[in-house]
Amino acid sequence: MIKVEHLKKYFPITKGFIRKKTLYLKAVDDVSFIINDGETFALVGESGSGKSTTGRTILRLYEPTDGKVFFNDIEITALSEEELKKIKPKMQMIYQDPYSSLNPRMTVFDIIAEPLKEYNYKNIEDRVLELLESVGLSEEHASKYPDELSGGQCQRVAIARALALEPEFLVLDEPTSALDVSVQAQVLNLLEKIQKEKKLTYLFISHDLGLVRYLSNRVGVMYLGKIVELGTIEQVFDNPLHPYTRMLLQSIPVPDPKQKSKRRRIVIKGEIPSPLNPPAGCPFHTRCPYAQEICKRKEPLLIEVKEGHLVRCHFAGEI
Ligand SMILES: Nc1ncnc2c1ncn2[C@@H]1O[C@H](COP(=O)(O)OP(=O)(O)OP(=O)(O)O)[C@@H](O)[C@H]1O
Ligand SMILES: [Mg+2]
Repeated sequence: MIKVEHLKKYFPITKGFIRKKTLYLKAVDDVSFIINDGETFALVGESGSGKSTTGRTILRLYEPTDGKVFFNDIEITALSEEELKKIKPKMQMIYQDPYSSLNPRMTVFDIIAEPLKEYNYKNIEDRVLELLESVGLSEEHASKYPDELSGGQCQRVAIARALALEPEFLVLDEPTSALDVSVQAQVLNLLEKIQKEKKLTYLFISHDLGLVRYLSNRVGVMYLGKIVELGTIEQVFDNPLHPYTRMLLQSIPVPDPKQKSKRRRIVIKGEIPSPLNPPAGCPFHTRCPYAQEICKRKEPLLIEVKEGHLVRCHFAGEI
């Protein structure tokens, strides 16, 4: 359903006040993968590795710097604004923080009805009611404002809105990491149920490797804007070949003190290099326990080591 080819998203960053110079932050740097019909493809990696930017650029919420994205053989990256508007209902996004993704001045009814009105749907009342019920809410929630709802209920409203125009593909960007653990399971069960019922395809972005293992079919591991390992859940979780993937799988998530929410982040020894000035050679060599001379000089390619299992390491399979 989705094909991403050599996708790049560089953000220009202006430094200096008088002698201005522009640097490029390579948030997504030559990323390629496919997502099959009806599957869940996950992106994992530490904070800042480029997961959200990849998701947003696929939906053209960001204009790509380079590369192509196909949705059912339509080249999304080549569409005009007008053509894009026609295809947008088919591709939707669910964000991490349900409160900030809903307009606080709109009722639940208006929030869900908005896309329906924009696309000239008929019988809007009936459709909103149907959508509310499909996410486990009811008519009584329609007149409420987001701040009268719990985090879990808000996320259900965001899901109902995303489903309004009958999408085929959803980007779920940490859809439950701002929610209480007990509510997380309910929302994830709902997303799974909807996926089965409506035969949806998911791009699931998450820090939580346990959830990724449980919910996904295939996974891509990102580091500094690049995919370093890609494969089925079994290939990547049971037989990780990249040292970074191994460290991710061994790391214990800790609560993030900078965030009030229950969001957890992965912590790995050593600092992530600045994406504005990434290391030469293999971007992971500064933290890699196995790094050799070649790793400092030459960037490894993403090589297929077994069918469908790709690794970007000079020593894949040897360590
Ligand atoms: N709009 C923007 N302008 C400039 N830089 C950005 C912008 N959005 C993201 N970045 C930078 O791009 C890099 C990748 O960010 P991104 O949000 O995609 O990472 P992420 O993997 O989703 O991280 P997290 O797990 O914290 O959500 C980071 O260095 C970030 O600071
Ligand atoms: Mg993100």
